[in-house]
Amino acid sequence: MSLPFKNTRSTYGLASISLHWIMALTIIGLYILGLYIDTLDYYDPNYRTFPHWHKSIGIILLGFYVCRLVWNLINPHPEPLPQPPMAQLATKVVHKLMYVLIILVLISGYLISTADGRAIAVFNWFEIPAIPAIIERQEDTAGFLHYWLANGLISLAGLHALAALKHHFINKDQTLNRMLGKHNPPRSKHMKLKTTLAGALLATSVLAAPSIQAADYTIDTKGAHASINFRVSHLGYSWLEGRFNEFSGQFSYDEANPNASSVEVEINTASVDSNHAERDKHLRSGDFLDVSKYPKASFKSTGYSADSGVLSGDLTLHGVTKPVEIQVTKIGQGDDPWGGYRAGFSGTTEFKMKDFGITKNLGPASETVYMELHVEGIRQ
Ligand code: HEM
Ligand code: HEM
Repeated sequence: MSLPFKNTRSTYGLASISLHWIMALTIIGLYILGLYIDTLDYYDPNYRTFPHWHKSIGIILLGFYVCRLVWNLINPHPEPLPQPPMAQLATKVVHKLMYVLIILVLISGYLISTADGRAIAVFNWFEIPAIPAIIERQEDTAGFLHYWLANGLISLAGLHALAALKHHFINKDQTLNRMLGKHNPPRSKHMKLKTTLAGALLATSVLAAPSIQAADYTIDTKGAHASINFRVSHLGYSWLEGRFNEFSGQFSYDEANPNASSVEVEINTASVDSNHAERDKHLRSGDFLDVSKYPKASFKSTGYSADSGVLSGDLTLHGVTKPVEIQVTKIGQGDDPWGGYRAGFSGTTEFKMKDFGITKNLGPASETVYMELHVEGIRQ
């Protein structure tokens, strides 16, 4: 699966990931360069060049910083992964504090460099003008602040990196993978069993005129012409509806030989959406989908009967793989207005949550999940 440019509800996109790593590497580089500059004496040949690079790269970093703030405003972060409330709060505070420290280090650096009224030449491309000194002995005071703020920033970033590594190696969750753009982290042995969720379907049909050969279709999730919906009784009094917003899959369908049809779908469990943020958080937690442990659910067909319209397959959910049957109806097929060819199906199935090791429910009426699936595929 290719990495989306924008963040989604469950993952960081290419833009946020690039900005994070470019800035992280630049800051670490500037810190090392800053400490090195401090050891140079006046006659060292690097005495002129290295401070020039340090300041120029620092100003370019300011450009990335502004881009990142603007991008955070227009493209919100993915939902946080489940962790205890105190850890959630600590993560938030550390992230915000790093943003504050970065800008303070940049401002103090600017104040040292412009204390004598000289503009900063950025790699001799352009100049950042100086403002008149605003404090007494500005160069020393700003230098002192710059040094200690930079130390504070690097310490906090070190702590933050250790936390990311702990999440990865000890908690074994998706925190670091999400920042590395790994949508499909390497599967554990246990997860290899499960392959693809409740997804798509195939169909049947009939003696249509120009019969086509076995065709491979990609489910049109990009255009949102597919949806995976579920329904669970609430206490036996009403229905609670929801859906999974992120999934992908493909199917093969040959009108001339519909029994050979097959389908595979993979779902990001963290994308569960029941139109209520608090409840979604609960659905993602260990009580239900346990998404940090089981980030994917999948469905892989094992057979199809055109006579009955039943698509059989293995549903993997919550780390458990069980056979399910999806009752499929073909909706239609034909050319689309953009030069492609499409086929679409709907399907329904149901299963008991406890068969997939999810034992929490609100009573006997709420044990069964009813799925309704709509899939449109684009022929490849
Ligand atoms: C996140 C970005 C930055 C980091 C981590 C950083 C870090 C450092 C460090 C560790 C030092 C050595 C301080 C010492 O040993 O006294 C230093 C020195 C310096 N930095 Fe930065 N710096 C950053 C950005 C900037 C910017 C944007 C400028 C100017 C536009 C700048 C200007 C300077 C100057 C002029 C010095 C020499 C100060 C002196 O000799 O006392 N820095 N920086
Ligand atoms: C100077 C270095 C660094 C800075 C200033 C920094 C800053 C940040 C900030 C502000 C965020 C919040 C997300 C955002 O606003 O984009 C973040 C997220 C993240 N960073 Fe860093 N970072 C640094 C280095 C690292 C390193 C070395 C690692 C890994 C070893 C790392 C791993 C992560 C991860 C996994 C996230 C996502 C956390 C989550 O989803 O809750 N960072 N970083």
